[in-house]
Amino acid sequence: MAVKQELESVEAIQQGKKRDGFTSAIGVIAATLGSAVGLGNIWKFPSITGQNGGAAFIIIYLLSTLLVGLPVMISEQMLGRKARKDAISTLRDLSPKKQPWWLVGAAGVLAAFLIMAFYTEVAGWVFAYIFKSAAGGFLSTDPAVTSQAFMNLVVNPMQSLIWQWVVLVMIGAILMLGVSKGIESTTKKLMPVLFVILVAICVRSLTLEGAGEGLRFLLQPDFAKVTWTTVLVAMGLAFFKLSTGMGTMITYGSYFRDEQDIPATATKVMLADLLVSMLAGIAIFPAVFAFGFEPDAGPSLLFITIPAVFASMPFGNVFMVLFFILAGIAATGAMLSLLEVPVAFINEKLNISRPVATVATVVLLAVIGSTAALSNSTLAEVKLFGLTFFDLFDYTTSNILLPVGGLLIAIFVGWVWGKEKITDALTNAGVLKNEWVVNGFYVIVKFVTPLLLILVLLRGLAIL
Ligand code: PHE
Repeated sequence: MAVKQELESVEAIQQGKKRDGFTSAIGVIAATLGSAVGLGNIWKFPSITGQNGGAAFIIIYLLSTLLVGLPVMISEQMLGRKARKDAISTLRDLSPKKQPWWLVGAAGVLAAFLIMAFYTEVAGWVFAYIFKSAAGGFLSTDPAVTSQAFMNLVVNPMQSLIWQWVVLVMIGAILMLGVSKGIESTTKKLMPVLFVILVAICVRSLTLEGAGEGLRFLLQPDFAKVTWTTVLVAMGLAFFKLSTGMGTMITYGSYFRDEQDIPATATKVMLADLLVSMLAGIAIFPAVFAFGFEPDAGPSLLFITIPAVFASMPFGNVFMVLFFILAGIAATGAMLSLLEVPVAFINEKLNISRPVATVATVVLLAVIGSTAALSNSTLAEVKLFGLTFFDLFDYTTSNILLPVGGLLIAIFVGWVWGKEKITDALTNAGVLKNEWVVNGFYVIVKFVTPLLLILVLLRGLAIL
């Protein structure tokens, strides 16, 4: 029966009778989790955790995820499903007349471009590393050598640009197939593979002699390194991780099925995403410690330390290739959702066909993204506020645009939309008996989330 329904709905979409969307409960989870899981788990989470004292940071990150990230994720999916439109139109349609909430959606489209600008570059390095490590290119246990190999890639303008374009073309090609046949079916295939590879690498890392120290680093808190900036960074990461604060979850929510239990779906995705982050930490830190490397290597951890770590272990080359395939898979699901925000807007709002909207977005991104791609070469000396384009896009999105976007979404839902509409949307018009979940969500999104965000944003600004 379920299969029959699924087929019927795919058919209706193909015939243009119905707005494209996710066709099954599993599809919703795969696509949403595919969006959440990304370079955030494999590139950002381990390096930020390494720089901010390990377990202590993880505790603060966990609280941020629960009290800030998750409520905003539920809010966005709820709004998207209610309006069934792109992010900008959703906020415009659902807000009272003359209130310019659509600007939050517009800021989301901007954020999607800025994130994609640097994200596609890192994803480009990941794909380059799959091929280079498969060819045996990084087989050295000496970080000076692996660092040189990384430098050769990033300071070469042509290589940086080409890998970024490869990534953009690949994502564009999947998106052109549409929401159900492109995004949903791709993520449904990729997510299980991601878990299998991740677990295999964890087993390898944990069975190394001296792995215990790395685990301790991940699990034993040291609060000495925690400052207000750490809290801001944790909140920024929570938003980035859950793809919230910028319209992605509004856009994906607009493809959710009517019967989807939104709070349950969001919670499952949040937990699975957390699991992937922790597993990525377990895949990386025990091995880093076992071979005597430093955990606080920052963003270069992935491209300089990790290859040296893998080269130090038996069958290291196989695991290195697997590791970068894993990172590539993770990045793919996330990029599909990032690009879908402008594509949906251009397609539906501006009434331009989906393939043309996709090509336009990809071309625009190749232009904006080139400033990030060339940040280590041609444009290395061009700085705004002391940051290269790459760092500027990364910093402003995570620490300003997403938290401010999330704050406004929480205020909109808690104070403008109100309890009645929330209850109707989250109980699926009374079908789900989840009153206590709805009440808890309401109190958190109305008071706790905005208060915490305002506090941390003000502190963060004062520190700057
Ligand atoms: N959540 C993705 C990651 O962790 C990044 C992302 C941010 C995707 C915002 C969509 C929107 O890599």
